[in-house]
Amino acid sequence: MNSPEKYLASNLQSHHPYKPGIQPKFSAQVLKLNTNENPYPPSESVSGAILEEVQNLRLYPNPASEDLRRCIADLYGFSEQQVIIGNGSDDILNLCMRSFSDQKLKAGMLDPSYSLYEVLSSIQGSEIERIVFKSDDFELPVAPIIECGANIFFLTNPHAPSGREYAREDIETILENFNGIVVIDEAYVDFARQNSLALLGKFENLIISRTLSKSYSLAGLRVGYALSSAGIISILDQAREVYNVDRLAQAGAIAAIKDQEYFTFTKSEILKQRDLLLANFNEWGWKTIPSGANFLFTQPLNRDFQSDPKVARDLYEFLSKNEILVRYFPLNSLTSSYLRISIGKPTEMSILVERVKQWQVQEKQK
Ligand SMILES: Cc1ncc(COP(=O)(O)O)c(C=O)c1O
Repeated sequence: MNSPEKYLASNLQSHHPYKPGIQPKFSAQVLKLNTNENPYPPSESVSGAILEEVQNLRLYPNPASEDLRRCIADLYGFSEQQVIIGNGSDDILNLCMRSFSDQKLKAGMLDPSYSLYEVLSSIQGSEIERIVFKSDDFELPVAPIIECGANIFFLTNPHAPSGREYAREDIETILENFNGIVVIDEAYVDFARQNSLALLGKFENLIISRTLSKSYSLAGLRVGYALSSAGIISILDQAREVYNVDRLAQAGAIAAIKDQEYFTFTKSEILKQRDLLLANFNEWGWKTIPSGANFLFTQPLNRDFQSDPKVARDLYEFLSKNEILVRYFPLNSLTSSYLRISIGKPTEMSILVERVKQWQVQEKQK
């Protein structure tokens, strides 16, 4: 038998697929603070809407998710022609990569940021330009982005994994001077102080990508969307799978968005817990990046008040053994002495803090 590799497309010959954070099978026992999911269930109206839609599952869904487009357009005061829906925002990011990069047109990203961008670029066969940070303050490298020569740049704001929010003026400078498409990945923006919606009327090269996975508690339903000019949206639409968002997802997403009261409630609970956890980290003297997201990126200290990759790994392993999953990024020197911890419910945060205190006692006894 011939090995299938023989027939493999050249783009995939040295391809490394995306590695998601651990998704344990028995998540009831595990405190899952590793992939920035929302600790609250979705709005109660979601299950009713989905159950009702089950009746219609013999029929194909609306290919363009028109009702959901209208719902999102109304929420922000844009026209439906300025909205496209994706199977998660990963689908949106893929459509952007498909539409605006190829073997000659490079893509660009911040390094580190969301590693899916390079995976999508690799599948597309485009080269990816990585713009590195000067330090672990994760300040936005504005000039290197403008000068990077990519045709499309993926700017994560709030930044992941640091959580840092970038200033509107810096984003405007990039949009004004970068010769290409700028995708602002606002996956975490509902937990931030600012967003880039106001820039949509001003810049033709802007795409804003968003998700219902985090702030609407719908990571399992897979719904994301993009806002842009009508011209760009129609280009993305051409690259889209015909029925990219299923009936249940469309119905559930509409129900979630309509329940703004619940959205605001869960968001404010998460922000409260973010402040409280930050206060703990500050008290312990741990450097923590000011966050505009539903997670904190923090640098644990050992008993000698030192931080390094070994300390971060040690705490990561201690927490894992105690069934608390957080995220550790050992491969980059700017992230290897930090842990990224998703914000949970008050009881979950108390368990986390207690466990960290146990680790600190154990550290002192070493
Ligand atoms: C920065 C960023 N963008 C996009 C996504 C993808 O979100 P989804 O595909 O669930 O909408 C994530 C997921 O963690 C993320 O961290």
